Amino acid sequence: MAEQRTGRITGTGSCVPDLCITNERLSEVVDTSDAWIYSRTGIHRRRIAADETVADLAAEAAKSAMEKAKILPEEIDLLLVATCSGEMLFPGTACQVQARIGAVRAAAFDMNAACSGFLFALGTAWAYLKSGLYEKILVIGAEKLSRLLDWGDRSTCVLFGDGAGAVVLEADGKGIMGMVQHADGNKGQVLTCPEGHETAGSSNPFLRKTERIPNISSLEMEGQEVFKFAVKQVPRCIEEVLAQTGTAKEEIRYYILHQANSRILSGAAKRLQEPEGKFPMNMEEYGNTSAASIPLLLDELNREGKLQRGDKLVLSGFGAGLTWGALLLEW
Ligand code: COA
Repeated sequence: MAEQRTGRITGTGSCVPDLCITNERLSEVVDTSDAWIYSRTGIHRRRIAADETVADLAAEAAKSAMEKAKILPEEIDLLLVATCSGEMLFPGTACQVQARIGAVRAAAFDMNAACSGFLFALGTAWAYLKSGLYEKILVIGAEKLSRLLDWGDRSTCVLFGDGAGAVVLEADGKGIMGMVQHADGNKGQVLTCPEGHETAGSSNPFLRKTERIPNISSLEMEGQEVFKFAVKQVPRCIEEVLAQTGTAKEEIRYYILHQANSRILSGAAKRLQEPEGKFPMNMEEYGNTSAASIPLLLDELNREGKLQRGDKLVLSGFGAGLTWGALLLEW
């Protein structure tokens, strides 16, 4: 029987900004401490893009992923960038990256599902490959959430960081085995960030005052609600993708979850009755990098030689929307 067509990750890459901001350094900006931040989130440091743009970070991550996959930019059919923090509404970050890396044949567009963005983009790429429309797809998660933070709000500014991660996904007989995706717009108010293009907005003579677009766009979050949502839904959707693919938990090498908070990951491990050691974490170094966190961690594990051909991995993302989902793949 002919093997079913799916998508396999053939290369990973990542890039983080140079500037490293420790919790101690942050405590000079807002009333906080390393002890408070680390005990509640597992974060010690984060990178902040003082000079780099989202496209700069994304392009570097993409180059490194293509190098590992041993493919040329001209071979890329589609380039997807998952981001919610690109500097430009258009041209999209994906088109900026396409120009920088010379992926001249590729279609390119951005996708925004906040912190679930990379997972949803990977799922989209998978669907394209399964359909037979494309052969080689570059999927990037890139963020500069430092642009969207209120740096006077200690309950949010300590949580996030900037960075990018990328994978090359190629049509193959093995690789992605299944995926589940969910959204609940009715609970969207627990994590929000308005668009802040006030200059254009306020010159519109037809806008009613009450409809005017806010001056600053900054992220607002009901932390405990987001926490409860994640700890409940992440294990559920992981169970769902395991059932969908007929896979036992014992077969899973690693659960590669969105790196929001170490307590969320520990909670998910507990609910799944799986050892915490199967949930690699790097939020200590990078904080929550939103759509970049999963590919950043995947690249780190890959570079450290921790992923072997045939390993089964579950990827799971969750975040604003609300959105969440899980994907199971064979490395
Ligand atoms: N440093 C010191 N104190 C802080 C602080 C900080 N950075 N941020 C908040 N506090 C204070 C609050 O002001 C509050 O003080 P009060 O009791 O005097 O009013 C106290 O700490 C407790 O605040 P609370 O918001 O209840 O804390 P918490 O235990 O819920 O922890 C989070 C806050 C954000 C760490 C936690 O809710 C969380 O991890 N949520 C999930 C967030 C997340 O991962 N989001 C992204 C998902 S994609």
